Amino acid sequence: MEPINLSDYERAAQEKLPPEIYDYYAGGANDEMTVQENRSAYSRIRLQYRVLRDVSRRSLATAVLDHPLSLPILIAPTAFHCLAHPEGELATARAAARAGTIMIASMAATTAVEEVAQASAAIPGAPRPWLQLYILPDRGFTTEMVRRAEAAGCGALVLTVDSPVFGQRERDIRHRFHELPNGLSLANFTAAGGARPPQLEFKADLTWQDVSWLRATTNLPILLKGIVHPADACLALAHGADGVIVSNHGGRQLDTAVATIEVLPEIVDAVAGRLPILVDGGVRRGTDVLKALALGAAAVAIGRPVLWGLAVAGEAGVSSVLELLRRELDLAMALCGCASIEEINRELLRL
Ligand code: FNR
Repeated sequence: MEPINLSDYERAAQEKLPPEIYDYYAGGANDEMTVQENRSAYSRIRLQYRVLRDVSRRSLATAVLDHPLSLPILIAPTAFHCLAHPEGELATARAAARAGTIMIASMAATTAVEEVAQASAAIPGAPRPWLQLYILPDRGFTTEMVRRAEAAGCGALVLTVDSPVFGQRERDIRHRFHELPNGLSLANFTAAGGARPPQLEFKADLTWQDVSWLRATTNLPILLKGIVHPADACLALAHGADGVIVSNHGGRQLDTAVATIEVLPEIVDAVAGRLPILVDGGVRRGTDVLKALALGAAAVAIGRPVLWGLAVAGEAGVSSVLELLRRELDLAMALCGCASIEEINRELLRL
């Protein structure tokens, strides 16, 4: 049966994927309480809709950091797309480009950033991809990655700050899933060449000084991803960030961490319009997107649903996931009395 929503895509992907790969994508840290909480926090928010507001002509178009988007939904960076489908990140990049949105390519991708950028650029009028970055102990390689993102035409850098160390993902431990199978590689690392490719290692001594270092290294806009505390959002601003992505890494790092939608309002209030705030984690319905925007997010990002679409039908599957969510958001807006993204606000919510 044709999937009609994002949960259908997850079920179809689960049937198709080997269990260790499905579990790598679906899983979270420890008891996966934050994975669940990211979802259930959305369902606790109720919509108090408005009526009689002529919603016959609606637009979902918006912009983030002056990058125009056809809908307020980006693709969050996730590793290893070639585990889901042979065309991997290239299929995802094309689907994002055709939908008129931004793919945030993971530094831990199975396709090099140059190829991802080329696949997007081949589609006329497509937004440029962004590159997600970890600052590695190997500062030279990190700098090289920044230069490659600039040369490839990436529109921004997304620095992930919630990973000084690796979360404990128990599904992966049970499957002994520690290595990329059958000829796949961390393409950004192998593309760097040399006899011994650099390693993807987390940097436990990462501090705000490293953010200042990155700020001084590039003119690309920098967003910090993995912020859940308003004080950290203010520090991001003070250290020259251009945006914040409220994220708990889809519940894959610290288990029992707060749900992202729960902390979004206090972060929006603390930043008071000085930076665009994005949010990810548990967005599965058009009403979830509407709630995030109502709480002040400039846009949301989705992680796992993209992998489900990719696993089920490659580029067409990712396109379908984005279009299902677009249609649901459009419907939710109509039923809330909103004809445009600007009309979505906190008045529509019962928290
Ligand atoms: C991720 N995420 C992630 N984040 C990041 O900054 N760099 C990365 O390489 C990855 N890799 C990754 C792999 C997989 C399989 C998942 C599920 C997630 C986190 C991701 O960007 C995002 O924060 C969450 O996926 C959002 O939650 P949902 O939409 O998956 O619930």
